[in-house]
Amino acid sequence: MRNEMKMSMDALSENEALARVCVSTFLTKLHPTLEELDDVRTAVSEAVTNAIIHGMPKDQKVYITCSYRNNLFRVEVEDHGVGIADVDKALEPLFTTKPDEERSGMGFAFMEAFMDSLKVWSRPGQGTVVIMEKAIGPTLTPEKE
Ligand SMILES: Nc1ncnc2c1ncn2[C@@H]1O[C@H](COP(=O)(O)OP(=O)(O)OP(=O)(O)O)[C@@H](O)[C@H]1O
Ligand SMILES: [Mg+2]
Repeated sequence: MRNEMKMSMDALSENEALARVCVSTFLTKLHPTLEELDDVRTAVSEAVTNAIIHGMPKDQKVYITCSYRNNLFRVEVEDHGVGIADVDKALEPLFTTKPDEERSGMGFAFMEAFMDSLKVWSRPGQGTVVIMEKAIGPTLTPEKE
């Protein structure tokens, strides 16, 4: 069982909700529990919000690729914005470069907590790619004898 979906959207804050809906609809086939669905929605929201508020100078796009292979769901959120100079630092809980704008610096910590894995690739001036994976539903076991 496999499937893939790619979407690109303007970096507008109203598109964060659209991303959440599309990704959760894409997941339906894997029969996620409500909790799994919430986890994925939250993680995707955080990544897309980051791309929109931190990544973008203006007139940019956010690219989302979702796929699954058996019960392993994977989502990539990419922007071609300003990038992150020190990824390790950015991943630390409570680290934010926008403390004055009511940012708490918890976005990456949530992504890490709610998904099984999180990888961040970034280069200043080029952009950022956040890759997350999560196993959804009961783990597929070999046929019972
Ligand atoms: N797509 C991105 N492009 C550029 N910088 C980013 C991107 N995503 C994250 N960052 C940087 O990493 C920091 C940490 O991100 P994180 O999501 O953990 O916290 P935050 O967005 O500052 O606050 P919160 O998510 O709690 O509102 C950000 O403050 C920002 O400097
Ligand atoms: Mg954030």
